[in-house]
Amino acid sequence: MNAVTPVLEAYDLTRHYTVKESAFSETKILKAVNGVSFALQPGRTLAVVGESGCGKSTLARLLTLIEAPTQGTFSVNGVNADITDKAQVKSLRSSIQMIFQDPYGSLNPRKKVGTILEEPLIINTNLTRAEREEAARAMMAKVGLRPEYYNRYPHMFSGGQRQRIAIARALMLQPGVIIADEPVSALDVSIQAQVLNLLMDLQEEFNLAYLFISHDLSVVRHLANDVLVMYLGRPAEQGPKEIVFDNPLHPYTRGLLASTPRVNPDDRLERVELRGELPSPLNPPPGCAFHRRCPFAQDKCAQERPEPREIQGRAVSCHFAGEV
Ligand SMILES: Nc1ncnc2c1ncn2[C@@H]1O[C@H](COP(=O)(O)OP(=O)(O)O)[C@@H](O)[C@H]1O
Ligand code: SF4
Ligand SMILES: [Mg+2]
Repeated sequence: MNAVTPVLEAYDLTRHYTVKESAFSETKILKAVNGVSFALQPGRTLAVVGESGCGKSTLARLLTLIEAPTQGTFSVNGVNADITDKAQVKSLRSSIQMIFQDPYGSLNPRKKVGTILEEPLIINTNLTRAEREEAARAMMAKVGLRPEYYNRYPHMFSGGQRQRIAIARALMLQPGVIIADEPVSALDVSIQAQVLNLLMDLQEEFNLAYLFISHDLSVVRHLANDVLVMYLGRPAEQGPKEIVFDNPLHPYTRGLLASTPRVNPDDRLERVELRGELPSPLNPPPGCAFHRRCPFAQDKCAQERPEPREIQGRAVSCHFAGEV
């Protein structure tokens, strides 16, 4: 096997927030992301999945240098990211771009499509006006937008078309990595597949690496190479998609898969139903944070937190993985 340098590599990424529930309550630490590590190769997709509030968007903000981690590090093309180094942040921002969930809120309504696409070029390149326009029109064609739309405003487009504009903008500086935070969740189901297909075509053409965030496993199924399942900020199960989806070992992954239509894990596995409420991240249960919802929980689970360990080709944070 020849080793390819990861375009994006994270080690123990952690983000804690200090929060006060009311003016009179004591301050608490909210552990939004805890101990996330991964390596992402060019042209590959890592899907980050889990219920709302498990830390997916916080992870995205760390990786796009919007916020600094409270612990842990990550590197882009082997260069350690340092949010305090302004020159480095500027260059990393062109290597890592982000696509957001809301195609309505993420585009400036007062700017024409052409202006939106050329802005990153004005800030980061020395291209002339004519060259910028040519690049913007070429990118519009690549994402399936007619070049005549160059002078239109975002409100003249549908949600799916707006997401194409956002994708085009993200690609203007030829990044190696795209962080896509629920990029199709706000779109009609009929449009979702078109945008996902576009993302896959662009990935192949530009050898893009995607960190693809979704709460919907049926979306992730088609494009992920690797999967990271998170629960209350921590990795629950992580590994190649086929291994994790076909034979999930963490009870939480099994619950997520069982509640997803059209994704069928090995039917010899007992179905796990996700019961009970997601606990508050301000007050996570002791031990395994999943224990109050887990049908296999035993005494040890309420006392000791399971650390990730390698079992059958993936990492899993469960005391009894492979036994239940
Ligand atoms: N700036 C912040 N200050 C305090 N808590 C935050 C902040 N941002 C996110 N959180 C909390 O961190 C947890 C993870 O949030 P988020 O990353 O948005 O999850 P997801 O994207 O998976 O739904 C949530 O409990 C959220 O309320
Ligand atoms: S450690 Fe215990 S509670 Fe947690 S997932 Fe495994 S069996 Fe369930
Ligand atoms: Mg989110």
